[in-house]
Amino acid sequence: MPPTESLSPELTQAFIQLIVKRTGIIIRESDQTAFEETISQRIKLTGSDSIAAYYRLLAAETYKSQEEWDSLTTEITNTESFFFRDKGQFKLLKNHIFPDLIKRQAQTKTMRICSAGCSTGEEPYSIAMLLYDLIPDIKEWNLTILGVDINSIALEKAREGIYRPWSFRGVDQDIQKRFFRQTNDHYHISDDIKTMVSFQTGNLLDNSSSNPFCHVKDIDLILCRNVFIYFSSTAVKTVLDKFYNALCPLGYLLVGHAELYSQNPDRFWVKMFEESMAYQRPGDTTTQPIASRSSALPQQIPSPTATTEDQLQTLDNSLTGVNLQMQKAALNLLRQLPGETRIAKLGNLTASELIQQYEQALKKID
Ligand SMILES: C[S@@+](CC[C@H](N)C(=O)[O-])C[C@H]1O[C@@H](n2cnc3c(N)ncnc32)[C@H](O)[C@@H]1O
Repeated sequence: MPPTESLSPELTQAFIQLIVKRTGIIIRESDQTAFEETISQRIKLTGSDSIAAYYRLLAAETYKSQEEWDSLTTEITNTESFFFRDKGQFKLLKNHIFPDLIKRQAQTKTMRICSAGCSTGEEPYSIAMLLYDLIPDIKEWNLTILGVDINSIALEKAREGIYRPWSFRGVDQDIQKRFFRQTNDHYHISDDIKTMVSFQTGNLLDNSSSNPFCHVKDIDLILCRNVFIYFSSTAVKTVLDKFYNALCPLGYLLVGHAELYSQNPDRFWVKMFEESMAYQRPGDTTTQPIASRSSALPQQIPSPTATTEDQLQTLDNSLTGVNLQMQKAALNLLRQLPGETRIAKLGNLTASELIQQYEQALKKID
């Protein structure tokens, strides 16, 4: 930064607004000192004459501007990841979602999966390892596992497929032995798994063709975990709409726990399982709902903030019905809502009040 200039609170806010609009990422107050340091560094490295000149560079729609965004985003994104992160969700994939998708796609032997915000590749490679074990004739399948991320440095590492022990926190040693070759404390992913996954740089908020969600259709499963926690709620809503359109009917969406806490994802079915929860794009009128096709899958529960009488009736039934598992699932669903959400069909009580009631009722049954 030129020595006479310093980043005022107003200018800092202007950069923060630009970033959230472009990438969805919110710079939190606790990160602002580090952020100001990053901006100063980028001003020096780009040789900008002034803070305003650097701002103009970012705000422009030019190739140079895009190049600078690529560099800046590598500085402001958190790329923390590890293999088989969230055991509950991987169990859910193994026990329910993949068996369902494999059965559904058995005729065409085609499956399309996307890890959105895949960072250094641990997530899509974990999916590849899981499918490698679940599909005996995997070589005959036309399988797409695409990892997308805004951070091009993270993607370089993903393409390399070489990992340190830190990426294997809590991972079964058998996985390391079967799918990795060790040299000192580096683990190289096997070619069998590496070739199952491809990577693409892309900004989930972007409306151009570099964002696969703007033109790719018929995805069977999207994983977008530990990404929305860094996003503004407006950005989450925009990306959710893109995901909805990119999924095929009955396609699944997995996000991190409580990442849709402030959202109303009522276009999706909310599906509660013992292991975890998933969102599902409803089937079109010619597609049978999943619950009626597989006894292994639980009944679908619509979002309680959805407005149709039928949907609320289903929730009402699940809460008051005799099926203990469904009651617990519904309780989980209520816990994901903002406490003050009122549910008209259930006496217009708030989610917090209902949670209290159902916890007490379940305690008695237990
Ligand atoms: C914490 S990592 C999560 C990695 C992996 N999904 C997991 O759960 O282990 C978040 C990733 O989201 C990426 N990301 C953030 N904003 C993005 C955007 N607008 N478009 C695409 N990727 C984004 C970051 O670069 C980062 O690699």
